[in-house]
Amino acid sequence: MEKFSRLFGYIEERKRLIDDWLDSFIPPEETPPSTIHKAIRYALFPGGKRIRPILCIAAAEIAGGRAQDVLPAACAIEMIHTYSLIHDDLPCMDDDDFRRGRPTVHKVFGEAIAVLAGDGLLSLAFEALSSVSAYPDPSIARIMTVIQEIAVASGTRGMVGGQVADIEAEGKQTHSLEEVEFIHLNKTAKMIEVSLKAGAILAGAGHREVERLSEYGRKLGLAFQIVDDILGEIGDEKKLGKPVKRDRELNKATYPSVVGIEGSRDRARKLVEEAKEALSIFEEEKCWVLKELADFVLMRER
Ligand code: IPE
Ligand code: IPE
Ligand code: MG
Ligand code: MG
Repeated sequence: MEKFSRLFGYIEERKRLIDDWLDSFIPPEETPPSTIHKAIRYALFPGGKRIRPILCIAAAEIAGGRAQDVLPAACAIEMIHTYSLIHDDLPCMDDDDFRRGRPTVHKVFGEAIAVLAGDGLLSLAFEALSSVSAYPDPSIARIMTVIQEIAVASGTRGMVGGQVADIEAEGKQTHSLEEVEFIHLNKTAKMIEVSLKAGAILAGAGHREVERLSEYGRKLGLAFQIVDDILGEIGDEKKLGKPVKRDRELNKATYPSVVGIEGSRDRARKLVEEAKEALSIFEEEKCWVLKELADFVLMRER
């Protein structure tokens, strides 16, 4: 992991910006009704890896922008992601008791508040995204484009659609590769893709740059979910902060269930290579973060 020390330094700095922005945006716990704000803050802090907002910032920086230019969008994406995890863990979905190293939101606050915390985060995300005054140098056209892209990526043609396909696949005897790829693309890759796209668009990237960064995000997102499936089979529960072996118990459509662990590793490696190739139009010193992050996704243990 020595090899990634420069990357870890970069991640820590960006994480601090993200956490500070979220902390100042999300209503304090005392804001009535206090329960919902406590539940939302419990879900968001200390949080997980923050990979999506970091990717959003990194894309903006490649395109010549700064973290500050995209923080409302980066943090909105993290709010949507966190809402998706709260709902994903509910008894009516994956029924998981642990997330990010501690009891899930419904375990601590009850199911009704967990549903509402997710709903609340989704609305807060669109409030953040559309807060024109929160962007230092607002271009309304860019902000509107990004709002629309994020709405599509998180909705029925994106994350929500993928979650529906994931749940419906549980009831089937066998799963096809095509089915698993549809689920992965929608439930995970589209939110990761839009993280890069949003950062690039807000920073004023040209069409070709936006396309390449989106392609990188789509490929990385697919690899990210394959690795999540592998870790769900053979990962260390303590490091992951969430249960393993659940996919098997629930008969989930996963990559390892269709092509085995080695087949899954091969596919993830290939996707990461393709993701890095998509960056070939950028100067080397500009894209080291995204290249190293892609390599790191293959080696991650959490
Ligand atoms: C978990 O996402 C759900 C998937 C889409 C694989 P992350 O692995 O990014 O979770 P956190 O945010 O770090 O907890
Ligand atoms: C989560 O997928 C994807 C979303 C929440 C959109 P999983 O159910 O496979 O992820 P984990 O393993 O619970 O984090
Ligand atoms: Mg799930
Ligand atoms: Mg789950």
